[in-house]
Amino acid sequence: MKKKLLLILAVLCLPPNVFAGELKPFGNIPISAANPPTEAKVELGKKLFFDRRLSGDGTTSCATCHDPERHFSDGLPISLNYPTTRNWRNSPSLIGVAFQKFLFHDGRAASLEEQALFPMMSAFEMNQNLDFVEEEIRAVPEYVAEFKKVFGDEDVTRQRIAMTIAAFERTLVSRDAPLDRFLLGDKNGLSPEAQKGYEVFTGKGKCAECHFGEKLADDRFHALHVPENPEHLQDPRIVATRRFVAKVYHYEAYRTLSEDPGRYLITREQNDWKAFRTPALREIAGTAPYMHNGIYATLQEVIDFFDAGGGPGNTVLRPLQLSPAEKDQLRIFLEQGLTGKPPAFTYPKIP
Ligand code: HEC
Ligand code: HEC
Repeated sequence: MKKKLLLILAVLCLPPNVFAGELKPFGNIPISAANPPTEAKVELGKKLFFDRRLSGDGTTSCATCHDPERHFSDGLPISLNYPTTRNWRNSPSLIGVAFQKFLFHDGRAASLEEQALFPMMSAFEMNQNLDFVEEEIRAVPEYVAEFKKVFGDEDVTRQRIAMTIAAFERTLVSRDAPLDRFLLGDKNGLSPEAQKGYEVFTGKGKCAECHFGEKLADDRFHALHVPENPEHLQDPRIVATRRFVAKVYHYEAYRTLSEDPGRYLITREQNDWKAFRTPALREIAGTAPYMHNGIYATLQEVIDFFDAGGGPGNTVLRPLQLSPAEKDQLRIFLEQGLTGKPPAFTYPKIP
């Protein structure tokens, strides 16, 4: 009796997400009240997303690392970079990004409007000066006319640049994935093997404890202790990137930092040491390599990681003891179930 009461109390005290492990089909795209979309705004944002003027040396657009041909990711373990520097993290797919509560692997940006200026300013990504880019865009008559159409006057500001890009990014959803069809009642939506994998995903594999909802992620951060890539630890360019980011976040020991501290850099909560945001799993079959540092080349390796109970020293995961057949079913579910029809897309003409 007492035990039962304690259990009920424990359940009541848990954050609401913990038992919310239900998978949902992609619904309507959330609308930003502060930045309502219009067709003209989305079109302008699309042009800017593909415009290499946004980078300091004019070689790189947002699409360089978020390529429509690769589900708006870049297919590399760690992403591309400004010449002579190196990035330190994997480029996330932007499909379904409108559904994210926190942006970046460590959740350091809260809105797409805020996020868009980070890569432009980042010394190891686009390395652009924002005062300068405003003038570059303002010097192009076609852009000036479009800003006037969208905002009512000709002023080209960094905030407006970010608003249009964000409006474009929110349109990036995929539709009608096999999982969506299955969840909407089509029993043949998933193949029989993928359905078995769905059972493992939501059952013995415990994946749906963190990967649920429309995007298959819980808007939380977990310290799974994904291994560091030893090559990255040594590369002086990545050492510089790591120290630079930590320095920007006022981490005192930035010069002796030898690994990616993840969410800890933002919150300084001990629980957040090496914690990363649960990634969305939409389009997962096409966005290898995996994890914040791209350490795993295949879904098989990711499944083996979870089956083994996560990385050394983590206190979040336990070994799953999945059979080889169950692991195969899980892989087939991830490979076949989560890829939808890509957003309707035509490349813009850059003025
Ligand atoms: C040089 C490669 C590169 C370029 C250029 C780049 N990004 Fe990214 N992008 C990344 C990487 C790497 C991350 C993850 C960084 C992290 O989590 O610390 C990221 C993260 C993001 C995210 C967060 C996605 C999520 O799920 O949290 C958005 C949104 C985004 N980029 C949009 C843009 C926009 C808009 C531009 C152009 C203004 C741009 N990116 C330019 C590499 C790039
Ligand atoms: C405790 C929460 C939690 C559970 C349980 C969990 N995951 Fe994850 N998953 C995460 C986090 C956090 C990451 C990102 C880790 C990182 O980047 O360092 C992740 C990463 C992934 C990735 C890589 C995604 C990408 O884009 O890089 C895949 C695939 C994945 N998980 C599948 C699964 C499967 C399959 C299961 C069940 C066997 C599972 N997860 C169980 C939290 C969880």
